[in-house]
Amino acid sequence: MSTGEESKSAGCRCTRKLTLAMSGCVMILVIALTVGLCVGLSGSDASREDAPAFSIDHVANTFLLNGKPFRYVSGSFHYFRALPDAWRSRLRTMRAAGLNALDTYVEWSLHNPHDGVYDWEGIADVVKFLEIAQEEDFYIILRPGPYICAERDNGGLPHWLFTKYPNIKMRTNDPNYIAEVGKWYAQLMPRLKHLLIGNGGKIIMVQVENEYGAYHACDHDYLNWLRDETAKYVQDKALLFTVDIPDERMSCGKIENVFATTDFGIDRVHEIESIWKMLRQLQPTGPLVNSEFYPGWLTHWQEMNQRRDGKVVADALKTILSYNASVNLYMFFGGTNFGFTAGANFDLDGSIGYTADITSYDYDAVMDEAGGVTQKYELVRQVIDEVLELPKIELNPAKRLAYGKVELTPVLELLSPDGRKALAKGTPVVADKPKSFEELDQYSGLLLYETTLPNMDLDPALLQVEQLRDRAHVFIDQQLVGTLSREARIYALPLSKGWGNTLQLLVENQGRINYDVSNDTKGIFGKITLQLHNGGALPLEEWTTTSFPLEPKAIEQWRANGVSKVDPIVALQRLLRTGPILYAGNFKVEEIGDTYMNMAGWGKGVAYVNGFNLGRYWPLAGPQITLYVPNELLKLGENSVVLLEYQRANKTRSGTELPAVQFDAVAQLDGQSSEVPQQPKN
Ligand SMILES: *[C@@H]1O[C@H](CO)[C@@H](O)[C@H](O)[C@H]1NC(C)=O
Ligand SMILES: *[C@@H]1O[C@H](CO)[C@@H](O)[C@H](O)[C@H]1NC(C)=O
Ligand SMILES: *[C@@H]1O[C@H](CO)[C@@H](O)[C@H](O)[C@H]1NC(C)=O
Repeated sequence: MSTGEESKSAGCRCTRKLTLAMSGCVMILVIALTVGLCVGLSGSDASREDAPAFSIDHVANTFLLNGKPFRYVSGSFHYFRALPDAWRSRLRTMRAAGLNALDTYVEWSLHNPHDGVYDWEGIADVVKFLEIAQEEDFYIILRPGPYICAERDNGGLPHWLFTKYPNIKMRTNDPNYIAEVGKWYAQLMPRLKHLLIGNGGKIIMVQVENEYGAYHACDHDYLNWLRDETAKYVQDKALLFTVDIPDERMSCGKIENVFATTDFGIDRVHEIESIWKMLRQLQPTGPLVNSEFYPGWLTHWQEMNQRRDGKVVADALKTILSYNASVNLYMFFGGTNFGFTAGANFDLDGSIGYTADITSYDYDAVMDEAGGVTQKYELVRQVIDEVLELPKIELNPAKRLAYGKVELTPVLELLSPDGRKALAKGTPVVADKPKSFEELDQYSGLLLYETTLPNMDLDPALLQVEQLRDRAHVFIDQQLVGTLSREARIYALPLSKGWGNTLQLLVENQGRINYDVSNDTKGIFGKITLQLHNGGALPLEEWTTTSFPLEPKAIEQWRANGVSKVDPIVALQRLLRTGPILYAGNFKVEEIGDTYMNMAGWGKGVAYVNGFNLGRYWPLAGPQITLYVPNELLKLGENSVVLLEYQRANKTRSGTELPAVQFDAVAQLDGQSSEVPQQPKN
């Protein structure tokens, strides 16, 4: 209900103005006093020269844009989920559906990957993205978090906060946390100044925190600080707002003098009256806003792809709009969690536990992962047509092409001396405990923990690993003996006496939790023990940790001078008994188009095309089988594919042929017909 200027002074703009101009404000003030509220500007007042360009009319319960009633139908599209060369065409397709506003998060960890290191280029050029959005005729709803959830690693908060402050309490008044947020906003906010509506740009709203009511901390000192910190930069040049899930915790997210909105999907539209009532209890007047209306939903590995029916979505949108509400479709275009950026969820009640998000953020959104229109798009567009004017825009979608089968040669064993030389970062660290990803300032990838096995007095003896985050392939003298997994809650396996001397745990970070939990550091944090004859447990206490961040640069360097160094017998294996193997191949492109790398027959790993990390694949778990390969990555002539496969090669048991991937023209996100995953519990 107020702008940054007002939040700082915590006074009522209208009352303050009244002493200057006893105009149309008087009537508003009377109403303001009766409802006990600080009231925004009335229509006549808003035409004054110093009035904010975007504000709220608490009498007509509407937004005012340059003094005129305004409502938006916006769509979420996060710039970090599409390549920069695709930004304009994605935005244009959104605009063609009639949307008049764009909603995006800003991802702190993308722009500030290490302490003191900032990135504003390429996919991190948020200013360029917003400028293109302005050119494509959007108003902008900016959601800088700094916590964004968004199914991104750690909810967008940088991993190095744990490196620097191991006990940091994210999203609270912890002095370390707010000092770092202050530094970050000092870098981010000045870059966006010219884009605020009050400065001639198109950003109409700026969010403070994100669904904070759902966070257990409920720290209003922090929220008030963040409001003031945001207002320091935004002033009255755009409207500050919050978004909260409509439930009993909503009031934990409400910030005094900040405009409150809510979020809900098709499953809650039947209770829309009671949802608006909850919002009205927090904030008696002003426009109604659903800041996240879900036309689809997020998907985890090992569950069904979360599809949502287009007709049901369109009907629900119609219902929301019938209340004169403004609405944002989350996601209108989802895109892809390239690299290691996908997050994870954890249900604190314990029935499901930890589940990692898939690489695709297709989301069954209104547009598909490659930016194409869908049947849902047409239905949604028809509904928008009833409330906003549809622009006449001609769309020119990229072709989708099948480049066919590409054979891959095994070129490097990760755990071999050559593999370590090529892909390990820095020198291994020896300590009494395994080092965590965060202690080593490592965003993601793998860590290898090694120790010498003691003499075992049992055969076999149970190895137990406490607090594994998230998955470990276990080797003895570089021979696979099993897999431990946080998702499967398997933390122990038997080892036989005489198998060998060196115990190796290759730990994968599957993505930091992005919702409710903000302390999901990665590695092994509990005891690692071997069962003893007398019922006791022998702790294993000397560990060498080797880093494998799997950054594309290291992979490319290897490939450039890459001759195969893989033992010919190992090269024929389907089961990768000696650890992950790097596979490399090339394919020729004569016409450039979008394509999908079909991972059928492979196990689990990470894939690179032309030195770009496409993301994690795991067709064994599903439901995602193909990885989206944007046309912007491809070039005419030779293109390269590299896989780092952790578990199994795409090979028949007896075959001597090379393993392969296939480039298809269609996505496969719903599992393999023969291996349809189980319906999720909820
Ligand atoms: C929506 O706005 C119109 C025009 O201002 C008004 O006539 C109508 O009553 C409003 N509907 C609701 C449900 O508030
Ligand atoms: C992490 O946070 C959760 C609640 O969000 C809490 O239950 C858990 O104890 C915390 N773990 C650590 C290691 O601090
Ligand atoms: C390997 O991949 C090819 C091409 O994608 C596929 O046709 C084949 O079925 C896969 N082979 C195995 C053994 O999974």
